[in-house]
Amino acid sequence: MAPDKFKLAVLVSGRGSNLQAIIDSIEKNALQAEIALVISNVKTAYALERARKHGLEGLFLDPKSYPDRNSYEQALVERIQSKSVNLVCLAGYMRVLGKYFIEAFSGRIINIHPSLLPAFPGLNVQKRALEHGARFSGCTVHFVNEEVDGGPIIMQAVVPVFDEDDEASLSERILEQEHIIYPQAIQLILADKLTLSGRRVLHKK
Ligand code: GRF
Repeated sequence: MAPDKFKLAVLVSGRGSNLQAIIDSIEKNALQAEIALVISNVKTAYALERARKHGLEGLFLDPKSYPDRNSYEQALVERIQSKSVNLVCLAGYMRVLGKYFIEAFSGRIINIHPSLLPAFPGLNVQKRALEHGARFSGCTVHFVNEEVDGGPIIMQAVVPVFDEDDEASLSERILEQEHIIYPQAIQLILADKLTLSGRRVLHKK
């Protein structure tokens, strides 16, 4: 019997281009994983369309149907655990995850963020990098802990900031790199190539 594939849950809220990059890497066999479930907190997220187009289960879970954050997270955790998922990938997921969720998948949640962390955590970060006058920006894949955009860094890619850039052009240059490093980071995890030393993520040879 073939061994079980490494299973991913992907949490989304919007356009889903990072989800698409993960799907494409799996379809090209550059990533030996399977997406067990895509969950969105936004009904109209295009990411759900993308999931369905590829025959994946795309579920809208409405935060407004739950009395508080904890019960919403309990529902999320149940759905994800029912699929025996190995890794939870946040891909443009716009809700901050609380203690309950993070403890349920401790060390098994990752996120992609469009800046070179620890510079510019939070929102509108391409605009903030431009306004700050940064000459380089980029993206970061990191483990998720309770500090927003604060977990151990797995991979980063750097892009230049040009004088002519506006928020859209810089975002696009960064996004291209996101689509490269996010699947690569997942592949490193599933191939057991990472170890944690304090808050440093070391890459085994
Ligand atoms: C990306 O820029 C990602 O880094 C950030 O949210 C955006 C999501 O884009 N966390 P998409 O939905 O994957 O296209």
